[in-house]
Amino acid sequence: MNNTEYKQAMQTLNLWSKHYYVLDDPITTDEVYDKLYHEVVEYEESNPNELDKNSPTQRVGDMISEGFTKEPHLSRMWSLEDIFDKEGLDKWLTKTYKLDSNISFYCEPKYDGASLNLIYENGVLVKGVTRGDGTIGELITRNVKTIKSIPLTIEHKETIEIRGEIVIFKDEFERINKRRLHEGEAVFANPRNAAAGSLRQLDSSVTAKRNLVFLPYGVGIDTLKYKYLSDKMEYIYSLGFRKPPQRAVTQGYDEIEEIYKVMNRDRDSYDMMLDGMVVKVNEIAAQIDMGYTVKVPRFSVAYKFPAVEKITTVKEIILQVGRTGAVTPVAIVEPTNIDGVVVERATLHNFDEIERKDIRLGDKVIILRSGDVIPKIIKVLTHERSGSEVKVIKPTKCPVCESELLQEVVLLKCQNLECDARVVNSIMYFASKPCLNIDGLGVKIVEALFKSGLVKSVVDLFDLDLEKLLELEGFKEKKSQNLLNSLKNAKAQDYWRFINALGIEHVGEVASKTLAENFGFSFVTATKEQIIECEGIGEEMAESVLKFVRVNAETITKLQTILEPLEPVKREEAKENPFKGKTVVLTGTMSESRGVIKEMIETLGAKVSGSISKKTDFLIYGEDAGSKYDKAEKLGVKTLTEGEMRELI
Ligand code: IVH
Repeated sequence: MNNTEYKQAMQTLNLWSKHYYVLDDPITTDEVYDKLYHEVVEYEESNPNELDKNSPTQRVGDMISEGFTKEPHLSRMWSLEDIFDKEGLDKWLTKTYKLDSNISFYCEPKYDGASLNLIYENGVLVKGVTRGDGTIGELITRNVKTIKSIPLTIEHKETIEIRGEIVIFKDEFERINKRRLHEGEAVFANPRNAAAGSLRQLDSSVTAKRNLVFLPYGVGIDTLKYKYLSDKMEYIYSLGFRKPPQRAVTQGYDEIEEIYKVMNRDRDSYDMMLDGMVVKVNEIAAQIDMGYTVKVPRFSVAYKFPAVEKITTVKEIILQVGRTGAVTPVAIVEPTNIDGVVVERATLHNFDEIERKDIRLGDKVIILRSGDVIPKIIKVLTHERSGSEVKVIKPTKCPVCESELLQEVVLLKCQNLECDARVVNSIMYFASKPCLNIDGLGVKIVEALFKSGLVKSVVDLFDLDLEKLLELEGFKEKKSQNLLNSLKNAKAQDYWRFINALGIEHVGEVASKTLAENFGFSFVTATKEQIIECEGIGEEMAESVLKFVRVNAETITKLQTILEPLEPVKREEAKENPFKGKTVVLTGTMSESRGVIKEMIETLGAKVSGSISKKTDFLIYGEDAGSKYDKAEKLGVKTLTEGEMRELI
């Protein structure tokens, strides 16, 4: 890097951080930002005389936007030095041990959200302040008070600043985006932007609706006299704050590496997004001794996880026709390795989304792959366009059967029930795991069976025999016999699987179970009123069931005769007990699997529900109970530990 490039890099970094911190709309990935940032750091280290005061390295952190009152923190909010690999950890440890060799480390997740400072005086929450530049933030007390995991009062009378991260849980993020998509609004790029944007709303009723969660990670000014950070944090949790999903006190390199691996391995299973693990010296006296550089504490470091967001290029947009006829665009992208998996395609939801984001062929985009969800395009880097990008034209005809497409709300749909793609996909769906779970009916085989004319609908699957199969190209004896065996195994399965496999629009696994439990075989004759009475089933679903049954009565009967599904046995009436007729919610880790506990409680005549409401009678909780526990407390729902439940039984 020369001086011109240095100046250029600074401008770029400042633009990127404005988009990140002020506009909540990042235009690059953390990874790319970090790389350039480190190049700037290196340049400044070797050319200290050329250091520019506008350099992002001289800035403490987030910027402040208009709209809120500025508020100084009682003590400075620091940021963290990042490390990315074993060598980084090794270097940091060597440096830290030089300052003090007699130390241990507190490790906890690095949450990917927005930082927040809470000021409590006389046990009352008086201020909530965003991080801002680390010294002065924005006063957002009204918004903060809508967040349920932030206690409004605590059993601690001296003035204290409690610091932590505001996050949005992944399921809540999906829910918000789904609704926004449905309502034709722009979706949030990732949970972090959604959290930051929701926190800094001028209208706090918007914040309240977003189900934000606060996770404490430290304190600012305090009068606490703990020797260890781990004990101090334990005290903070005991005041009514959430615990991290994983934490550990470790001794040195190997143990830190070990817990880092565990957290990285398990990160998908946590409710919130993590972008790394924070390592902090556990001895508070040593922390004070070590102190701070201009920007960061010497006693702490952020050990980042492999990136889940990458920049790539859109090569092509292909169209997929699903079993319901919905035509969804899929982007074929330049293959990109994301945390060990080569990503080549990304979903685009629907055409409105393409138009809104103005995605063009040849565009540079940010893709996100997290957990086992399909990678998605979260951002188009329009500022990187060369002018040669090509607009995507919304199709008017089904790419498979060429029949006219109709716009149904946000979805573009092929109306032809016999469209090859619809038929093939409904057969695939019929055989999928949450339906009849028929092994060996992959897309290639289903297509071959369909093209040969042997299988035109799911019913035809059961007319297949060895002779017919052996005539097909690529079907040898073994493959054919395996398929026939799998088809045999599709028989005598639980009835809810049968209902689910029918592919009734809007009716998924949960609704299928409800229908099976409530009506058994007679679900085909249930009236709309009866169906709506079932919990979790609304008008739209009920109408869809009725319409399906009306149109497909013959097929349902035929399939039922072939498959002989098992009608659920009605439970015997339970004897009198404290749970009979009650609604129970389970949360946390228990001594046995959730399924076993659920079964046990259902036999007692209770209904086990997935979410807490005023109607819930009991919340039974195990280890690491999370938001459900908080909600139960708020609503005054009686809570029982697993042990207490067993005693009652
Ligand atoms: S400690 C004294 N711990 O990461 C050091 N920060 O990159 C202050 N963050 O601004 C930060 N999880 O918003 C700390 N467990 C954690 C964290 C955490 C997320 C955020 C925080 C901070 C940023 C620094």
